[in-house]
Amino acid sequence: MNVSIIGTGYVGLTTGACLAFLGHQVTCVDNDAEKVAALERGEAPFYEPHLTEILAEARPHLKFTTDYAQAIPGSQVVFIAVGTPTGEGGKPDLKYLEAAARSIGENLSGPFTVVVNKSTVPIGSGNWVGALVRDAWERKNGARVRNFAVASNPEFLREGSALHDSLYPDRVVVGADEPQTAEVLYTLYRPILDQTFSEPAWLPRPERLGAIPLISTDLASAELIKYAANAFLALKISYINEIGRLADKVGADIAQVARGIGLDARIGTRFLQAGIGWGGSCFGKDTAALVATAAEYNLSMEIVTAARAANARQRERVVEKLLDELKILKGRTIGLLGLAFKPNTDDLREAPALDVARMLIARGARVKGHDPVAMDRFRREYPALDIACCESAEDVARGADALVLVTEWPQYRDLPWERLAKVMQTPIMLDGRHVLERARLERAGFRYIALS
Ligand code: UGA
Repeated sequence: MNVSIIGTGYVGLTTGACLAFLGHQVTCVDNDAEKVAALERGEAPFYEPHLTEILAEARPHLKFTTDYAQAIPGSQVVFIAVGTPTGEGGKPDLKYLEAAARSIGENLSGPFTVVVNKSTVPIGSGNWVGALVRDAWERKNGARVRNFAVASNPEFLREGSALHDSLYPDRVVVGADEPQTAEVLYTLYRPILDQTFSEPAWLPRPERLGAIPLISTDLASAELIKYAANAFLALKISYINEIGRLADKVGADIAQVARGIGLDARIGTRFLQAGIGWGGSCFGKDTAALVATAAEYNLSMEIVTAARAANARQRERVVEKLLDELKILKGRTIGLLGLAFKPNTDDLREAPALDVARMLIARGARVKGHDPVAMDRFRREYPALDIACCESAEDVARGADALVLVTEWPQYRDLPWERLAKVMQTPIMLDGRHVLERARLERAGFRYIALS
């Protein structure tokens, strides 16, 4: 099929690359000319495992442009995958979505086009996008438009495993108000739904993966599924962190408690990793949007609101724990292991490391840090935040009064702990993710504290 994708962020570029890899003809549109030029050269604009490989393999079916007129005419499916950052009062700012919808309307031609919202958009946006496309087309052509429909196809990929989640998803959700619109998307996704494509060498198909469930709904339900899923995952993490705070008081081990409850199949072990709390561009934004949408209907989302507050509190716990140990933070040097909001990405949006660094600096501490991939992006995007970037974990440790493991990169699980302990001022390790081995660190001379 002929497909256009508006926006080459995590969602847009991953979707475009995967659809082209499956053999569809894909044109990606982005208004950032530099980014388009880099993509044309085969360069990935952000760090994501296997992205360079899939871009190279999908190249024959993949085009990049800044020009809607080169992409939209003749497309059977147009995905909108632009950013919807948090705006005023927690509501998403929809200016990019609006601009994309208008430009699509101005360039629409061909027998029938399905315009798909893939960005996480407020409930009701499907209708709104439909109206914007229709207005733009009718203003330009002076006639009634009939050849398009809107669908919602929310994205569930996680950064750091974006390609795995796109090629081998748990489910595909398609929301549309007429069956023939949904049909177009079933055809598009057929190779994924039936898993008929040949698996790439660099990302083998998980064992025993059967057909992928397809959830077909109306527009509003698909839009709500996305928010409800992210809010649920966020509150699962906040829940385990709340239990973790109690575990800390009563002397229980939260990692064992999480495993003990998670093995109940009704609960599940995933997203029960206690620690510094969630970051990233999605959970904070989407929980805020859910609360704001509910408020428009005079509903208060008390559980989601509490999950947000519990998450903010986890960041403060880092400072509290360091104060308990060091008594005074002024003049101390604190080393952060990991800057990205999670491993396998260089994304720093709402990264816990940034919040923790700001709080420590406000208390007069000096902050050093290391990250295996996110340091360049950190220097570019946060020039005003005074974290001294170090070339290795050992450099971070040198002269530090405490280390905080902020991002559980696999590289940090097995460091030369004896050496690190020796070069520190005081060998204190605050494990913000419950991933280090207490006995191993204590043997190496560390005072080990897990954050809960
Ligand atoms: C999240 C969802 O997991 C995706 O399904 C969704 O598509 C995406 O948002 C989105 O809306 O675009 P993402 O933000 O990329 O994906 O990353 P996650 O793996 O969900 O992690 C989010 C944060 O929660 C990270 O800071 C991570 O460290 C933290 N986390 C995760 C925990 O603290 N504990 C856990 O057990 C799991």
